[in-house]
Amino acid sequence: MSKMTAKDYMERENKYGAHNYHPLPVVLEKGQGVYVWDVDGKRYYDFLSAYSALNQGHCHPKIVKAMCDQAQVLTLTSRAFYNNALGEFEEYVTKFFGYDKVLPMNSGAEADETALKLCRRWGYDVKKIKEGEAKIIVCGNNFHGRTITIISMSTDPDAFSGFGPYTPGFIKIPYNDVNALEKALQDPNVAGLILEPIQGEAGVFVPDEGYLKKSYDLCKKHNVLFIADEVQTGIARTGKMLACDHEGVRPDILILGKAISGGTMPISCVLADDEIMLTIKPGEHGSTFGGNPIAARVGIAALEVVKNEKLAENAEKMGKIFREEMRAINSHMIELVRGKGLLNAVVIRNKPGKTAWDVCLAMAEKGVLAKPTHGNIIRFAPPLVINEEQLRDAVSLIKEAFKLFE
Ligand SMILES: Cc1ncc(COP(=O)(O)O)c(C=O)c1O
Repeated sequence: MSKMTAKDYMERENKYGAHNYHPLPVVLEKGQGVYVWDVDGKRYYDFLSAYSALNQGHCHPKIVKAMCDQAQVLTLTSRAFYNNALGEFEEYVTKFFGYDKVLPMNSGAEADETALKLCRRWGYDVKKIKEGEAKIIVCGNNFHGRTITIISMSTDPDAFSGFGPYTPGFIKIPYNDVNALEKALQDPNVAGLILEPIQGEAGVFVPDEGYLKKSYDLCKKHNVLFIADEVQTGIARTGKMLACDHEGVRPDILILGKAISGGTMPISCVLADDEIMLTIKPGEHGSTFGGNPIAARVGIAALEVVKNEKLAENAEKMGKIFREEMRAINSHMIELVRGKGLLNAVVIRNKPGKTAWDVCLAMAEKGVLAKPTHGNIIRFAPPLVINEEQLRDAVSLIKEAFKLFE
């Protein structure tokens, strides 16, 4: 049989896979650090990092070793039994982020669902809201995942249209609007506020300085839980371990996913103190794979890499250089450059034949992979292990791509 071409691989995915994604036409077969290679051997800088799951870089040897070692001994016990790995992860992650307890899950959406359940339960058991009346405040343009309840929180028609009926109990307010929050908090049945400290999928929307702190203080004033979805922003991506750290805010419930596995497998978790976490009792929530022994070993290794390799500091430093360089590009196509650490976006002035998608195709041709979001925004989020030489090299390729549109 002759060797399959990139076209063959794409056609096969299109034929047998659901069409719920629109990938860039590259077929990857290998990754190492900041690089990926396609099936023809061409090398690219990965400036998406699987939506910030690969903060530690592709196939980090320490994380892969932890994964392989554990996979040969014990892969899954379910939570019907104890295992000798989970407790070590639980102790490590709670001490790492400073919470009493952790509840491990798999995907980011599951961790968000877990946080919503914890919030409602706390609302009934501790805040004493009447059963069935609890409300949770959510923000416009949020992205928390794809389940029915989570899309019920969404204001993006692409996410929710055609999937009703929706889960009730959410109050939608604009993001980055403290006055709207204060108004919504007048309702005594509000149990929590859930937000992304920087809205990733919305196009790396960075709120005004002080927004998180003011929101947190308002929640405290009204006895409402402040829930931070740091699935994309957490684990060093924005130049601090958590994006909430930029404003010294400690969320009541912290949601993590993606990079807690270094991009090797689905691991997510929810962190909270006992007053919140212990409202859920045995049999009331869980997941067959959540907290499995491989995830436990991988989670510890992934966080150790972030700490030992000082990835938050590197993200902060490299992010500054990246934004400076991008702002220096003299292209009529670039409307705006924004971001924090290594979570950045360039807003494109879309014109026929000169859209963000076209720019991404041109960048791929030059050897840099990134993906548009919301039509005209390109997110730039390389692995945090990128060094200055690699960053400057990638930026020069991005510049060459933009030149093609002059
Ligand atoms: C802030 C945020 N929350 C939740 C999710 C959902 O995570 P998952 O795709 O692992 O379910 C995402 C994914 O992009 C996200 O960015």
